[in-house]
Amino acid sequence: MSENTPKENKRIVSGMRPTGPLHLGHYFGVLKNWVELQETHECLFFVADWHALTTEYADPKRIKGFVPELVKDWVAAGLDPEKCVLFQQSQVKEHVELHLLLSMLTPVSWLERCPTYKDQLTELAAKDLTTYGFLGYPVLMASDILLYKPAFVPVGQDQLPHLELTREIARRANHLYGNFFPEPQALLTPDAKLTGLDGRKMSKSYGNAIGLSEDPASMKKKVMSMLTCEKRARLTDPGDPKECNLFPYHELLTDPARLPEIVEGCTHATWGCGDCKKLLVESMTAFLEPIRDRRKAFDAKPDLVRELLEKGNAAARQRACRNLEAFRKKLNLNF
Ligand code: TRP
Repeated sequence: MSENTPKENKRIVSGMRPTGPLHLGHYFGVLKNWVELQETHECLFFVADWHALTTEYADPKRIKGFVPELVKDWVAAGLDPEKCVLFQQSQVKEHVELHLLLSMLTPVSWLERCPTYKDQLTELAAKDLTTYGFLGYPVLMASDILLYKPAFVPVGQDQLPHLELTREIARRANHLYGNFFPEPQALLTPDAKLTGLDGRKMSKSYGNAIGLSEDPASMKKKVMSMLTCEKRARLTDPGDPKECNLFPYHELLTDPARLPEIVEGCTHATWGCGDCKKLLVESMTAFLEPIRDRRKAFDAKPDLVRELLEKGNAAARQRACRNLEAFRKKLNLNF
């Protein structure tokens, strides 16, 4: 798309928690979609650092350094600060004021019955999450979104209950003070086809992920040890790509013209899983190299992340101030 193509007059807002280095699962599940959207829509993407504190408040050291690393991963993956606004949530304090105002009108029962609330309380039982902030997390998320009055919010399935709450909060505010917030629609990210190296969901905590900044030797080692189709115990046993953990990677990363050859080699046992993996190493190298190169720009310029975020924070703040000012008027807080 050329630089001059006008973007659709539809704003998009989304955020990601800074919880560690991004991997291929994040790329194909979320980032690829964001990179495409920045060409067609006005996009604001932010590092949700306050959200990370809702669960890490007792030991914030754990998330130290993750904010700049996340921004590096984003830019390396193709988000272009000239095409979208990249910012840090905690540097745009208007989120907090809107959070306070929306918390006035949000019934506690809506928060208590949010399915992710109870799940997380049990799942993260090692942490004391019986806090006011953790209960109010969806109100903070509603503020992150409504502050910018977006048309769409790209999210994964797991965030849908929160987005539904955002819409309910918007409706309630509109009912009380007159129409103000458009109800944002979910842009559901298609389910990522990619599972981890062992066939389970790709996750850093399972140790089955390939990082966007993985070094070539470690990537190669991981690919060569991947689990393949169980049918191919011996080289002469034909396999089935549909049952193989490797094939979805080829579908995403290898030149589509080569896929028939892969299927043929597997189903007719004319090549081994090792050959298949070697080809995947090649494809993955071709995919990861430009990402690694873009990341290198940050090594050469230590202030780049800060500069980039300062610019994005200012751009977000400007939009946030305008909308918040208008909402304050609705509440007669300006006189
Ligand atoms: N709750 C999201 C998560 O944990 C992150 C997030 C915070 C978010 N605010 C948001 C996502 C606003 C979309 C829109 O992944």
